[in-house]
Amino acid sequence: MKRTQKRWAILVGASVAALAVAGCAAGNGNKPESKTNDQAQATQTADQIYANNCASCHGGNLQGGFGPSLEKIGSKLKKEQIVQVLQKGKGSMPSQGHLSSQEQEKLATWLTEKK
Ligand code: HEC
Repeated sequence: MKRTQKRWAILVGASVAALAVAGCAAGNGNKPESKTNDQAQATQTADQIYANNCASCHGGNLQGGFGPSLEKIGSKLKKEQIVQVLQKGKGSMPSQGHLSSQEQEKLATWLTEKK
């Protein structure tokens, strides 16, 4: 295969995979073994996403640790501001851009209720 052909093949392959993922997430015939990490996270509740991505720094009960406590974050930051922190990171907190915007929204909504 020529270089350019190969690149196209990869591109096409990637979009087919993306479509397949989107299609699967919309349908109900989800096979657990074919779940990608993204799909698994899409069905997770906010506190599960938190436990998997944030608890290591912010503590299992939002009490803080390496990062500040988030127990009362809802009275400090608005939802949009939390989404910003997740997207861009803050100080020594790395960006959480690996989370989908759906997951970021879910988390931010959940966190604004912590007052
Ligand atoms: C590698 C450790 C680390 C991880 C993982 C991490 N954070 Fe942070 N986070 C921090 C640190 C450190 C700060 C303080 C940044 C600063 O103000 O300089 C912070 C700050 C924040 C703030 C702002 C707090 C405030 O009082 O202004 C929010 C909101 C937040 N994190 C939410 C999250 C969420 C939600 C996740 C999971 C998706 C997460 N963080 C994952 C370390 C982390």
